[in-house]
Amino acid sequence: MSITRGSLLFLFVFFKQTIESDIRSVRMSSLVNFTFQCAKTTCAPFVNLTKSNVRQCEMSCLDQLGCKAITYRSASLNCQLFDNSINQNGNMSFEMNAVTMSVILGTRFPLDLTSTSTSTTTSTSSTTRAPSGALTKNMTYARQRHVASVLVDGRVFVAGGAVNGPWNSADLCDPATGVWTATASMADGRQFHTGSFLTGGNIIVTGGYYNNPLDSVEIYNSSTNNWTKVASMNAARYTHTASVLLNGKVLVAGGNGAGGGNNYLNSAELYDPATNSWTYTGSLNYARQAHTASVLANGKVLVTGGMSGASTFLNSAELYDPASGVWTLAAGMSAQRSSHTASMLMNGKVLVIGGNSGSGGITSTELYNSSTNTWSIGGYLNVGRQVHTATVLLNGNVLVTGGQFDSNIFYSSVEIYNVSSNTWRLNTNMSIPRSYHSASILPSGIVLLAGGVSSNANYLNTAEFY
Ligand SMILES: *[C@@H]1O[C@H](CO)[C@@H](O)[C@H](O)[C@H]1NC(C)=O
Ligand SMILES: *[C@@H]1O[C@H](CO)[C@@H](O)[C@H](O)[C@H]1NC(C)=O
Ligand SMILES: *[C@@H]1O[C@H](CO)[C@@H](O)[C@H](O)[C@H]1NC(C)=O
Ligand SMILES: *[C@@H]1O[C@H](CO)[C@@H](O)[C@H](O)[C@H]1NC(C)=O
Ligand SMILES: *[C@@H]1O[C@H](CO)[C@@H](O)[C@H](O)[C@H]1NC(C)=O
Ligand SMILES: *[C@@H]1O[C@H](CO)[C@@H](O)[C@H](O)[C@H]1NC(C)=O
Ligand SMILES: *[C@@H]1O[C@H](CO)[C@@H](O)[C@H](O)[C@H]1NC(C)=O
Ligand SMILES: *[C@@H]1O[C@H](CO)[C@@H](O)[C@H](O)[C@H]1NC(C)=O
Ligand SMILES: *[C@@H]1O[C@H](CO)[C@@H](O)[C@H](O)[C@H]1NC(C)=O
Repeated sequence: MSITRGSLLFLFVFFKQTIESDIRSVRMSSLVNFTFQCAKTTCAPFVNLTKSNVRQCEMSCLDQLGCKAITYRSASLNCQLFDNSINQNGNMSFEMNAVTMSVILGTRFPLDLTSTSTSTTTSTSSTTRAPSGALTKNMTYARQRHVASVLVDGRVFVAGGAVNGPWNSADLCDPATGVWTATASMADGRQFHTGSFLTGGNIIVTGGYYNNPLDSVEIYNSSTNNWTKVASMNAARYTHTASVLLNGKVLVAGGNGAGGGNNYLNSAELYDPATNSWTYTGSLNYARQAHTASVLANGKVLVTGGMSGASTFLNSAELYDPASGVWTLAAGMSAQRSSHTASMLMNGKVLVIGGNSGSGGITSTELYNSSTNTWSIGGYLNVGRQVHTATVLLNGNVLVTGGQFDSNIFYSSVEIYNVSSNTWRLNTNMSIPRSYHSASILPSGIVLLAGGVSSNANYLNTAEFY
């Protein structure tokens, strides 16, 4: 009997933390009152257990790396685990009070990276656990100051910033296997560039640095896995920002320009994908590099901080109005900062985190409310950091990883911001210090931390799940 069951499907996230360094989770879809039809005829579960409730049955599935699905019968306390051979999601039989759950591809954490080599042995019933910080396979090259994005198909894309390989290289990681595969290279090598999703899912990479600041711009088509070089910017720039506006145009602002170091730019320009052209728009009130840019819900762009001169750190903020093309000063932050991060919270506020105020990383964070144009003080980080990553988690809290205090102190530490209490707490460390790395949140909520630099000139080809 084949049935329509869309209305019965819902998601379960199953999560287990036995000791601090052992966090495991899996996401499963769930269907009540049905079993796999094949379970009644041709296919057999690879383990039968007696469990007092469905969550314990799920826990058993989490413990068995080969487990892809469960059926639980509460009347008999029967818990059946099915392996990879199950592919019967469209073919279910009614059975009152049975619950069938299937692991959603790519959501198991840590990954079963060795399943292909061990799946024929019977020792899979052991509960060997990968530590939190499970590494992926190595990237093709070490990289830092690259860009990273999660593609629609769930793969993680990184480009540029390679250290022991060509700076134009790009890699794709399949989170289900942890394997990185080189993808098409850019025309131009670069680091300190930007990467943003255009409407439609392609990725636009702008500027960056390779011997000199670059004006070149390329678009990665994630369905064909190739790059197309498009119109160049009017100004070469790196450590600038790029923001995709609600109208689909791309706003680049500031950065470090051509003509020698510390040539910080106040210019801004707009790319129109429809006409493949760049035009200057209004200029920033202050030249800036290593600032942040956030697109607000009202469509305006908030730019914060950065450096305006060799030792001039900014606390000012500006708003770009796409309707007029004009930048106006917003309320200033309480702290000067560059190489900080800005996260758009689910409540609409922008959380600005850490950065360098001239003498190393700072612990200060601040929250911007765009309806009042005001800043309020956020909780303080446990350590002062810059060039860290900040990721909004699925529950709305913010994960901050790594970064540096100064040119000698690199962090493996991780902090989580609780939006409702406005406080930070240290969480389990990464496996290694990482700075100038990337953080990409997968649909499962797991964050993939890739590359970076671990100590002076110690560049990383490793990536880890967090
Ligand atoms: C399962 O079946 C029983 C008996 O038909 C019904 O009462 C119950 O609502 C069903 N549960 C779900 C979630 O459909
Ligand atoms: C459903 O399962 C039965 C029993 O395993 C099998 O004979 C049948 O081909 C399956 N139907 C589909 C559409 O997969
Ligand atoms: C589990 O029980 C089913 C029948 O309920 C049987 O077909 C299957 O072989 C059993 N599996 C194991 C590993 O004992
Ligand atoms: C992965 O890279 C590390 C260095 O970061 C190296 O020690 C290790 O041998 C590499 N592993 C493989 C399988 O190439
Ligand atoms: C990406 O390439 C595909 C295949 O050529 C094409 O259909 C699609 O329009 C391209 N996307 C964009 C936005 O250019
Ligand atoms: C990208 O792939 C599409 C479809 O295969 C092809 O038409 C196009 O010429 C390719 N572009 C480049 C720059 O290779
Ligand atoms: C922003 O300020 C307005 C006006 O005081 C307030 O109503 C709103 O709740 C604030 N936003 C958040 C997310 O706190
Ligand atoms: C975590 O990393 C920090 C440095 O970032 C280090 O000081 C601390 O000792 C580490 N904690 C553990 C438990 O390893
Ligand atoms: C966040 O803080 C609130 C209020 O103190 C607390 O109830 C909640 O459990 C915390 N959430 C997390 C995920 O720590």
